[in-house]
Amino acid sequence: MAFNNTYIVTVLLDVNETQDVDDRAESRSYIIADRTSGKSVIIDAVIDNVERDLRITKELGLTLLFAVETHIHADHITGASLIKERTGAQIVYGSDAKGEATGVDQFLFEGEALRFGQTSLTALATPGHTDSCTSYMLPGAVFTGDALFIRGNGRTDFQGGSAEKLFDSVRKKLFTLPDDTIIYPGHDYQGRVSSTIGEEKQFNERLNLSINKAVFVEMMNRRKMPRPAKMDIAIPANMRAGRMI
Ligand SMILES: [Fe+2]
Repeated sequence: MAFNNTYIVTVLLDVNETQDVDDRAESRSYIIADRTSGKSVIIDAVIDNVERDLRITKELGLTLLFAVETHIHADHITGASLIKERTGAQIVYGSDAKGEATGVDQFLFEGEALRFGQTSLTALATPGHTDSCTSYMLPGAVFTGDALFIRGNGRTDFQGGSAEKLFDSVRKKLFTLPDDTIIYPGHDYQGRVSSTIGEEKQFNERLNLSINKAVFVEMMNRRKMPRPAKMDIAIPANMRAGRMI
C-alpha cells in the first residue's frame, strides 16, 4: 500500500491460479480509497479476481463507489459489471469509449473529476495503445493503463492503436506531469510495482527523452507480437463492461 495524506492505493496483482493459456497474468488492478470516508474506486478489475478484491474492500471497511476502466482490454475480461452487481458501484470508462462501450454508467471526459470523499481521480485522454485509452490522475500519482509501462509501453497494433498517437500521449501529456509523479501501469511483466515520470523520461526503453517520434514509430511498427489468446472473447465482453451476454 502507498500512502499520502488523503488516499491509499492498494496494488492488486493478478494471480492466474488456473494457469490456463492467456496473458492476463500480468494485469494490475488498483483500489484507491479516500482515507477519511473509506469511499473507494477500483481501476481495471479482472473478472477472475473479483471475489478476492471484494474481500479486501470488505476487510478494509471500504465502500466501493466506482469500477473504472483505463480501456477496452483485449487480454482479460473486466470485473466491472460483476462488481456493480455485487456492490452497486457505478461503471466508468473514458469518454473516447462512448459509442464503443455499452453498460457504462459514466464516460469521463478529459479534465473531468470522479469524486469519492475528499479524493478525486481526473481523466486524461491518452490514446495510442487503443483509440479510447484514458489515464487517471490523483495528486502525486497517475494510473496509465497500457499507455505507459515501467520502462515500456503498450502495443499499438489493434483496436485503433497508433504509435504516433501513443508517442504524443506520453510526451505531450504524461511527461508534462511533475517528475516525482508515481506511475501505476496496467501491466508489468517483471514484478515491478511502480515508477515515476522522471524515471521513465530517463530510462523508458522506447520513450525516453532521447528518442524521437520517427524512431519510436519505426520501432513499434517493426514489433511483431502474438495476438492475446482470449482477444475474441475479451474485447466484445469488455465492450459490454464485462457482461458475458
Ligand atoms: Fe490493453
